[in-house]
Amino acid sequence: MTATATTAPEATRPARLPAFFAPVAADFEAANALILEQLQSKVPLVEKIGHYIIAGGGKRLRPLVVLLTARALGYDGERHRDLATIIEFLHTATLLHDDVVDASDLRRGRSTANAVFGNAPSVLVGDFLYSRAFERMVEIGSMRVMELLARATNVIAEGEVMQLANVRNPNLQETDYMEVIRCKTAMLFEVSSHTAAVLAGADPATEESLRDYGLHLGLAFQLIDDLLDYDGDTGALGKNVGDDLEEGKTTLPLIHAMRQGTPAQADLVRGAIRRNGREQLPAVLAVLRDTGALQYTRQAAEQQIEQALACLAPLPPSAYRTALEQLARFSIRRSH
Ligand code: IPE
Ligand code: IPE
Ligand code: MG
Ligand code: MG
Repeated sequence: MTATATTAPEATRPARLPAFFAPVAADFEAANALILEQLQSKVPLVEKIGHYIIAGGGKRLRPLVVLLTARALGYDGERHRDLATIIEFLHTATLLHDDVVDASDLRRGRSTANAVFGNAPSVLVGDFLYSRAFERMVEIGSMRVMELLARATNVIAEGEVMQLANVRNPNLQETDYMEVIRCKTAMLFEVSSHTAAVLAGADPATEESLRDYGLHLGLAFQLIDDLLDYDGDTGALGKNVGDDLEEGKTTLPLIHAMRQGTPAQADLVRGAIRRNGREQLPAVLAVLRDTGALQYTRQAAEQQIEQALACLAPLPPSAYRTALEQLARFSIRRSH
């Protein structure tokens, strides 16, 4: 199906949302309401932790990708709202699990669920969110969508395990790092635009192109996340800057610094990855600046966004398409 809509419905979005939410304001509100509705459980602790993390905010970028992609392809039903909700549930589940694994204590500007309620409840409520998402998937009634979401969930889990297997490994190469972030982060963006295209009945070439939009957007998104972990502001981010070094995560800024630095600089970074490097953060930051590592990471993200934008070519002009372009540009300008 090709898009016929060239104008967006009236915007009813709250003032604080960026302009690229406007074309799907009604869908977005409906999806947000569904997110809260579907947290319902007979077990009070499930709802308590679920509400805690969801009410903490979050940018809701993945549901936005779903809503905009479906509408940009002329979809005129409402099942994309369910799809958006399911994908935010999957995302929220990964956050609950990720903060336990990373021993993080700040998320969305407040204490993480694991810091407030403990690790075990966070993991179990993460499982609840995953399984609730799968219940809802069945209701969408598309075997193809189910298949893609099931596969994506599997790949995300693999990505997190791959990352764990490489903790405190300073020898991780750029290609391996890119594979980790493709799996743990880009996959969910990819499946967001991909399943929305499937729902909209896009032709195979368009479906592939929109899938790749999500992939490149997701890669850029994690590259910037890894940059902000060194270059960001804890207040704006709502997460602690410097956590990656403390956790021994070999991200692109460090990989580049070890490649480009003097032997002494490379050794300093290696040592910080191997041991708890928080106290070495200022010294590592100096090496990152000296080797142009932050700039290199930003450029890598910019290249991904160029590719993401090129993937929008099959879409006819519309407010939805413009918003997808704006979202891509925002993802590399963001400070949170
Ligand atoms: C955080 O994602 C996890 C990463 C993939 C870096 P977001 O930055 O989209 O998290 P929220 O939902 O806005 O809090
Ligand atoms: C993203 O990696 C993890 C997920 C896919 C959930 P990070 O560990 O960098 O994410 P943040 O920085 O904790 O949000
Ligand atoms: Mg983390
Ligand atoms: Mg991070």
